[in-house]
Amino acid sequence: MKVLVVGGGGREHALCWKISQSPLVKTLYCAPGNPGIAELAECVHIGAEEIDALLDFALAEKIDLTLVGPEVPLTMGIVDRFQAAGLEIFGPNRAAAQIEGSKGFSKDLMARHNIPTADYQSFSEHAAAVAYIKQQGAPIVIKADGLAAGKGVIVAMTEAEAIAGVDHIMLDKAFGSAGASVVIEEFMEGEEASFFAFTDGKNILPLASSQDHKRAFDGDEGPNTGGMGAYSPAPVVTAALHDEIVETIVKPTIEGMAADGHPYVGILYVGLMIKDGKPRVVEYNARFGDPEAQPLLMRMKSDIVPVLQACARGELTQDSIEWHDKAAVCVVMASGGYPGSFEKGLPISGLAAAAKIDDLVVFHAGTALKDGVVVNNGGRVLGVTGLGADVASAIECAYLGIDEICWQDVHYRKDIGQKALNR
Ligand code: AMP
Ligand code: GLY
Repeated sequence: MKVLVVGGGGREHALCWKISQSPLVKTLYCAPGNPGIAELAECVHIGAEEIDALLDFALAEKIDLTLVGPEVPLTMGIVDRFQAAGLEIFGPNRAAAQIEGSKGFSKDLMARHNIPTADYQSFSEHAAAVAYIKQQGAPIVIKADGLAAGKGVIVAMTEAEAIAGVDHIMLDKAFGSAGASVVIEEFMEGEEASFFAFTDGKNILPLASSQDHKRAFDGDEGPNTGGMGAYSPAPVVTAALHDEIVETIVKPTIEGMAADGHPYVGILYVGLMIKDGKPRVVEYNARFGDPEAQPLLMRMKSDIVPVLQACARGELTQDSIEWHDKAAVCVVMASGGYPGSFEKGLPISGLAAAAKIDDLVVFHAGTALKDGVVVNNGGRVLGVTGLGADVASAIECAYLGIDEICWQDVHYRKDIGQKALNR
């Protein structure tokens, strides 16, 4: 069969890496892809948000299955468009993708279906939002309702910070129409974990546990980023907690979406806060996590393609996924300055040496080719992912790879996975 992956980051490299191993797949395309993906798939020069062009390509090439990596094309309705044209595509349609595309939508869903999360209120008027902050006090969390490329959340430790956040979103319109309304919610303490489940809209198939590292610097210091590293499995998610997450969060979410008239098909990403062994939802995403996909897919033993097809067809009967009995750790190598501004076009050395290390894969994210040389071309550049008998040896493997790779001003965290070891 012919498969098309939409996107061009580290997550899509990991998806292409996994899908290309399926005996069912004859040709794999990726739009737009990146230089790492180009070693596994035929990269097509169409951006992930150019839905008309993607649809024309998929029809012309008679693509059998399309998989969408990033959230923006999902919220734009790529799934609805492909389905209307009779094409099979994995992911939620536009209505269901609101679970990520609108914080107000997701909070109302949780309230309606008794899914544990932070208390909240939504506001479309600035004065009312400020009055609520003054009434509630700090710490408190301010969220732009719509998509803001991961920057629309302000965890405010003081009332002044919270009000400045509302001003930034609602008055300065820092995120445009995504900030026309805000969700203001209770600050939750605890340890974060990421939980994923495949679903066909009715049945669910949970994945192994994982944990991201969102802050830029060691010890969870510095600004929030898209994610500086991830590992799987995450020991904070014990077997009992896994079952509790499925029963009290994932199932009611999928049943709730169906009951509300927009069944959710695809992979559901639940961001969790765990405190005293109890999980609450921080947010939902309508897609695989980046970088969580990198360690998860390296650990996945089962063929992913039949699962994607079964979800897209509403025929998910498989009740478990086989995992390699190994841990995986992904360390993100970023451009110096990220998540702020940074220089692009700097040549990267050591990729060939890293490629020789056993049980290690270097997933490309923000890379480009310049005169035949791989250079940095984005904030998060590489996801160096190692396997090991346990998290400690997977960490060792990933940093062996890191030691080989270098470019000017490269930045990475040196403590990825330590949280798992400290437990
Ligand atoms: P979100 O985009 O909703 O995942 O928010 C980004 C990050 O902000 C999360 O990964 C958390 O670290 C933090 N965050 C969001 N909501 C809360 C909350 N209610 N309490 C504490 N931290 C939060
Ligand atoms: N790792 C965070 C995200 O994918 O949103």
